[in-house]
Amino acid sequence: MAIRDIIIIPDKRLRLKSEAVTAVDKPLRTLVDDMFETMYAAPGIGLAAIQIGVAQRVVIMDLAKKDDPPEPQVFINPEVIGASAEKSTYEEGCLSIPEYYEEVERPSAVKVKYLDLDGKPQEIEASGLLATCLQHEIDHTNGVLFIDYISKLKRDMVMKKFKKAAKKGEPVKPLSEDKEPSHHIG
Ligand code: NI
Repeated sequence: MAIRDIIIIPDKRLRLKSEAVTAVDKPLRTLVDDMFETMYAAPGIGLAAIQIGVAQRVVIMDLAKKDDPPEPQVFINPEVIGASAEKSTYEEGCLSIPEYYEEVERPSAVKVKYLDLDGKPQEIEASGLLATCLQHEIDHTNGVLFIDYISKLKRDMVMKKFKKAAKKGEPVKPLSEDKEPSHHIG
């Protein structure tokens, strides 16, 4: 297992549409292991493979509370196949857009199909944090970021700050106050 580098905006790879996984084999399991190690070290509650520069449709998450036992979940080739009309709003963050949090409105429940680590087709009906996190991470596999849902004014401000920092080779100064770390996505 190895901790991999998490890529951050404006890295163009974050805009790639990832490729479907064709075989759930040993290299894929190694990728998943590395993703978990990387996510737990960050720390984050969700991660898509493209966030470590691998353009494959693989999503992991662990929504267990801080002092509870880990609950690792893996979604291969995940796809939203149904969404509720009802929406909910959640303060999201992203390991690829560090230290920036903003409220995003999404369907409050979704149905997702995916393959598990044995390559078996599965379906899940998710609500609450799981629904939000699944949508956020599946967006990553399609090159979509949570800042795409906020106002253009705010998005331009965020992109400008990160572009400037990347040019200087410096980390971005936090753009939001870290109020509720448990509320952050990956
Ligand atoms: Ni993210």
